[in-house]
Amino acid sequence: MKIAITGSSGFVGSHLSKLLAKEGHDLVPISRRTGTDITKMPALSEAFAGCEAVVHCAGINRELGRQTFDSVHVRGTRQVVDSAKGAGVHKIVLMSFLRARPLCGSPYHESKWAAEEIVRASGLDYTIIKAGMTYGRGDHMLDHLSHAIHTIPVFATVGTREKPIRPLAIQDLVAVLRACSVDGRLCRQTVGIVGAEELLLSEAVRRVAGVLGKRVFVLPCPVAVQFGLARVFEWTMTVPLVAKAQVRILSEGVVEALPASDPLPPDLAPQRKFDETNIRAGLPAPGPFGFRDLRCCMRFCT
Ligand SMILES: NC(=O)c1ccc[n+]([C@@H]2O[C@H](COP(=O)([O-])OP(=O)(O)OC[C@H]3O[C@@H](n4cnc5c(N)ncnc54)[C@H](OP(=O)(O)O)[C@@H]3O)[C@@H](O)[C@H]2O)c1
Repeated sequence: MKIAITGSSGFVGSHLSKLLAKEGHDLVPISRRTGTDITKMPALSEAFAGCEAVVHCAGINRELGRQTFDSVHVRGTRQVVDSAKGAGVHKIVLMSFLRARPLCGSPYHESKWAAEEIVRASGLDYTIIKAGMTYGRGDHMLDHLSHAIHTIPVFATVGTREKPIRPLAIQDLVAVLRACSVDGRLCRQTVGIVGAEELLLSEAVRRVAGVLGKRVFVLPCPVAVQFGLARVFEWTMTVPLVAKAQVRILSEGVVEALPASDPLPPDLAPQRKFDETNIRAGLPAPGPFGFRDLRCCMRFCT
């Protein structure tokens, strides 16, 4: 089957690409790194020619220059939908966020919701995946936690009263993306997906530190301070240790979909726990943050 994957170079897109490539599907990778910007229509229409499905994973978690939430999530999704329709694609699968919703004061959440609405109104056979915080090799969670613990073994909570999370293993997520794109399941549904186990982020951090053979000190930290830190990380880091959108996400918890969504069928329900085996499988090579993680040094390190 010929399937286009936007955001193919990213965490979710690359895991999905590996799974589908192993099954012998003909994949069309789409990202700025492969020369296709989803905000630019002509290149997209060409790329989608002959595809039966598009899995739309391209997205950002912080705004940088002209790459705004509106341009990538809203205008980009409109371009993806229009190009898919123009190319005769039947199915679109959108990677959205668990709590993407309108009028909540977070540009990330609101723009992902606007993308959902564009896809729901597209007339295409669609599935919208509202995923919670996802972990695995190459992610934004274990990767950053591991480097942070190796740099300074101190973790500042997001809020003095932490909200729970349900970390979702990437293998559980791509199995669902595959079921929608290849098997055509979950037609015209918006489904929420979270991991099998509920815990606080500080407990997740302690588990990661334990697997790394380190001890970590947990400091309670107000949400407002975390927003300030996120602003600094967004200015200074190539991939921020934590972005403003992520502070917002963690401050309200990541355990259930908003608005309420369709349930996953039992055979697709995530089973993996946030345990040693699954943490170990997703950890990067050990080591602290380095100069290459700073935006000002990036051009000299590449
Ligand atoms: N990771 C999670 O925990 C999680 C949870 C829920 C929802 N999501 C959503 O799932 C999607 C994928 O997340 P991820 O973790 O895989 O993110 P990621 O690792 O940051 O990857 C994002 C991908 O989008 C591509 N991209 C960004 N702007 C683009 C543009 N203008 N044109 C073409 N490609 C563009 C990036 O490639 P280039 O930089 O090469 O363009 C990259 O391949 C995102 O929409 C995110 O909001 C993620």
